[in-house]
This record gives sequence, structure tokens and C-alpha cells, in this order.
Amino acid sequence: MKFDTTINGMARTLECEPTATLFEVLRGAGHHSIKQGCDREGTCGACTVLLDGQPILSCITPAAKAAGHEITMVEALGTPADPHPLQKAFVEAGAVQCGYCTPGMILAAKSLLDRTTSPTDAQIADALSGNLCRCTGYVKITEAVKNAAQEMAKNGGRR
Ligand code: FES
Ligand code: FES
Repeated sequence: MKFDTTINGMARTLECEPTATLFEVLRGAGHHSIKQGCDREGTCGACTVLLDGQPILSCITPAAKAAGHEITMVEALGTPADPHPLQKAFVEAGAVQCGYCTPGMILAAKSLLDRTTSPTDAQIADALSGNLCRCTGYVKITEAVKNAAQEMAKNGGRR
């Protein structure tokens, strides 16, 4: 099957088997920021992408669901020279160790901050509840999300 979608702001046509998952198709198209941290069973969050701004687990999402929709991955948020406030805050707070969970964490956090400018610890924990980190614990990650929220609030909620 063939379908049109938008990946990181660019119109794309993807071709895949009807049974392919979004994870398989995106990795096959060279998007290696999404990771596989479980047996593609929806339990780790490392494969998270945003679909029209909402975090989804690409390993259990049929690729066809992206037809006509917008996929965003972490590489679209910022660059090393101009990082998104979340990317900057994760580094500054020491919320990145091995980094395997980080793309998914940042996308889940972005979706939260797009909806909530001043999230509570409970809201952050809820938003990140599907994203496992095996290195840091969640204290530094929570701190990073709060710091990014404050930074974005200075800019009217925008990055
Ligand atoms: Fe673990 Fe998708 S790879 S939830
Ligand atoms: Fe290693 Fe989160 S930083 S799994």
C-alpha cells in the first residue's frame, strides 16, 4: 500500500505492506531517533512519536493510521545549535544518561506542555507514565520538564 503523510513538517509518500507498523516504516525510512525498548508490545514508550501532536506508540500502531496525518519525531524539535527548551532542559538537569528513552520522553513531555503551561508533578508523572527510563529515575526528568515549562512560559508558551 502507498499513502501520503507528513513527517517532521515535510510531505511524504510512504509505501509498505498493509500489516506494517508505523515503527517499521519510519525506521525503514531512516528515522532512527525512535527506539525499540520492549518486544514491540507497547510497554516501554521508546518508540513514541507524535501523531497530530498526540503521543502514540509507533510499535503497535499500523502505519496506515498515519495516512493524511502529521508525524513528528524528536529531531524536528530543535537542533544542537537551537535546541527546543525541553531538549536543553533535559541536558542541563542531567535527565539524559544512556539517552535511549529520551526521544520518547521529550515527545510525551512536549505534548503535555503544548496543552499545559504549568504542569504539576502529578500531571508530568501521568503524561510520562508510558515512558520507561532504566537509568535516571524520574526526579531529574520531572525537574527538566518543569524547567522547560518555565522557559516556555517566558515566551508565551511557545518554544
Ligand atoms: Fe516498546 Fe514500542 S518499542 S512501546
Ligand atoms: Fe537511559 Fe532513560 S536515560 S533509559
